[in-house]
Amino acid sequence: MKGIILAGGAGSRMYPISQLYSKQLTLIYDKPLIYYPLSILMLGGIQDILIISNEETIPFYKKLFRDGKHLGLNIEYTLQSAPNGIAESFILGDKFIGNDSVTLILGDNIFYGTLDFFQRALERKKGATVFGYRVTDPERYGIVEFDENGKAISIEEKPQKPKSDFAVPGLYVYDNNVVEISKNLKPSPRGELEITDVNMEYLKRGELNVEKISRGVAWLDTGTPESLLQASNFFGAIEDRQGLKVACLEEIALHMEFINLTEFETVTNNMPKCAYKEYLNKILQDRIK
Ligand code: TTP
Repeated sequence: MKGIILAGGAGSRMYPISQLYSKQLTLIYDKPLIYYPLSILMLGGIQDILIISNEETIPFYKKLFRDGKHLGLNIEYTLQSAPNGIAESFILGDKFIGNDSVTLILGDNIFYGTLDFFQRALERKKGATVFGYRVTDPERYGIVEFDENGKAISIEEKPQKPKSDFAVPGLYVYDNNVVEISKNLKPSPRGELEITDVNMEYLKRGELNVEKISRGVAWLDTGTPESLLQASNFFGAIEDRQGLKVACLEEIALHMEFINLTEFETVTNNMPKCAYKEYLNKILQDRIK
């Protein structure tokens, strides 16, 4: 399974900072936003990761993650010349995906809680899996409609009259057919290759699975200054209360056995004196005991 993080975009709602770089570099409490979607891929056991973004932002990601080896990952980078739509990921990522299946996560999507819904999707060998998450403002999202047996029967992008309250979050798991499906898409009236059109094609083929995400999971979508502040407050409260970090990539790399203790120690030693390093040193001490 390959993983793609789409982390460019216009970011118009984040002006003026969007003149400099994409919003995925902004801090959510104590770490850049992109750490959170990357942590989800890592927790799914995915080690081959492609980050797609714009010319301004790619150099910052490269500085942050390099080739990913220190996290036990293989990270590559690809340019998206303009925000031509989410489904363009599979065309730009064609070579990277090869004959594999692929998970796409949007760089501004955060999940917190038990990830069993994601695990179930990763275990499926064929077709596509998207998720359904109950929201109060369905007009803003792709919305999935279910029949009485809980089977998905339609998906509509930003409907004026939503047929349900279940939005499709920016996390999608596909078999290899997604590449061919994306290459055959036509741009929508707003000029984008729409991910909803990809999902509609899977639905038409009878190969679309929709997993409902339970209320115990938080899905935060961080497109505006208000939502970034809310997310910071949310993770600040959790981390300060528990003394555990969310989306701490080095900790996850060790936990997933992508790196061993010696490699973990080397990574930690290279950090400046800071709370983040102290946290990792404590994990090291606990493991050595
Ligand atoms: P959007 O929320 O659709 O857009 P945006 O982040 O560019 O913001 P705005 O609406 O304020 O202009 O994007 C969702 C995520 O996907 C976000 O992380 C940016 C990314 N994205 C791309 O990288 N390329 C694209 O072509 C699109 C459509 C989105």
